[in-house]
Amino acid sequence: MITNDLLLPAVYQLQRAGVAGAITVCALNTPPLKALKENPELKQAFPGQDFLAQPALAEPADRTFPALYKEVLARMPPRQAVVVAMPDNLHYEVVMEALRRDQHVLCVKPLVLKHAHAVEVEKFALEKGLFVGVEYHKRFDRRSLIARRHYELGHFGQFVMGEAKLIEPWYYRHSNFQNWFTCDRTDPFVYIGCHYVDLVFFITGLKPVEVSVSGVKGKFPNGKEGYLWSNGRVRFENGAILSVTNGLGYPDQGSGGNEQCLTMFCEGGDCGGIIKHDDQFRGVTHGYVEAKGGKHHHFINPDFFRLVPWEGAGYKPVGYGPDSVAAILGMAHRIEAETAGMAEAPALARRRERIREADRRGIIATPANSAINELVVEAARVSILADGRPASIAYGDSPRVALR
Ligand SMILES: NC(=O)c1ccc[n+]([C@@H]2O[C@H](COP(=O)([O-])OP(=O)(O)OC[C@H]3O[C@@H](n4cnc5c(N)ncnc54)[C@H](O)[C@@H]3O)[C@@H](O)[C@H]2O)c1
Repeated sequence: MITNDLLLPAVYQLQRAGVAGAITVCALNTPPLKALKENPELKQAFPGQDFLAQPALAEPADRTFPALYKEVLARMPPRQAVVVAMPDNLHYEVVMEALRRDQHVLCVKPLVLKHAHAVEVEKFALEKGLFVGVEYHKRFDRRSLIARRHYELGHFGQFVMGEAKLIEPWYYRHSNFQNWFTCDRTDPFVYIGCHYVDLVFFITGLKPVEVSVSGVKGKFPNGKEGYLWSNGRVRFENGAILSVTNGLGYPDQGSGGNEQCLTMFCEGGDCGGIIKHDDQFRGVTHGYVEAKGGKHHHFINPDFFRLVPWEGAGYKPVGYGPDSVAAILGMAHRIEAETAGMAEAPALARRRERIREADRRGIIATPANSAINELVVEAARVSILADGRPASIAYGDSPRVALR
């Protein structure tokens, strides 16, 4: 779970820095909360730091609390921050409830599943002067930021043709995925392909205008049918094409955690340009004397999330994952610090100004500057269910997706 692997450690580090105060973690039931509390790596890295569990750990493991998050939100003082890391289909209602309760929001990707909902979140948050950041952490990978700067400065020319790949490990098929990753609900393009579509948009500023996705179906161990592989073709507004291959099938015994990469060919004057990122093998390998995750030899990604020694107690999280969380929660914190003590009307005006500024900068994904992602997801679902027929995206006052 992303709360264990990135969000909680990143927030613990912000607590050390004085940016975050008391932390409450709310889940559907107690097992994930117990696992978080007892995670030996987190205990070792963050000695003396803890969170309040909701529901309380004394509750029976099989009792579920689907509406408890509403009570937890209702009890919060206004203008704190809420981190939403629940299943995709719940994001919309939870983000809206947090905004109704006057909270800034960090939401994991995808913000919501429908473009109309992203627009609703954007308008409501702006009206209330609350910041909503969508946690697309690949944007904070230094290689993405470097590519964006050089692209902005014209050093590559124009993006024309590219390919991206993200293949998750085989063992996902044996996890809880088999209960929800079914053909009617999602597919590998929607689940992970969207990261690279967002990244190409982030680097180039080009909007996708047509999406066609074909899937390969297969059975999960429990017999449910899902798209286990997908290939998507995304056409951008300048005519460029990105091919995106995704799946649940990287060998469990492989040294990488998954397989992922991006290549973008560009043209400028009488010369070709290229951006090429190997996001799987980043040049570091470890062989451990005791197997971890069933294998001894690992490709190490030093860039996303690692716990490292620092000048304080325990270990500190470093990488573009923690950077991304810190940027979003730091923005909410800054907005509050800047408007503290101001009268309500000028404070609201200032908060809105800061939100619009973040929208314009486009470094942190916000509902306003990243809604192309909701359109791409909508188009991809329509296309894969129609056996790969292209779906076009029309922009304008009310953007629309339609099968061609
Ligand atoms: N690279 C990324 O950006 C990335 C990676 C992984 C997951 N995610 C996203 O994070 C989200 C969670 O994914 P995950 O893999 O951590 O899933 P998960 O199933 O491990 O965790 C989901 C959590 O939501 C909680 N939950 C469900 N219903 C609830 C309710 N009604 N009230 C309170 N809590 C509730 C569950 O208790 C569980 O702890 C998804 O939206 C996923 O797409 C993003």
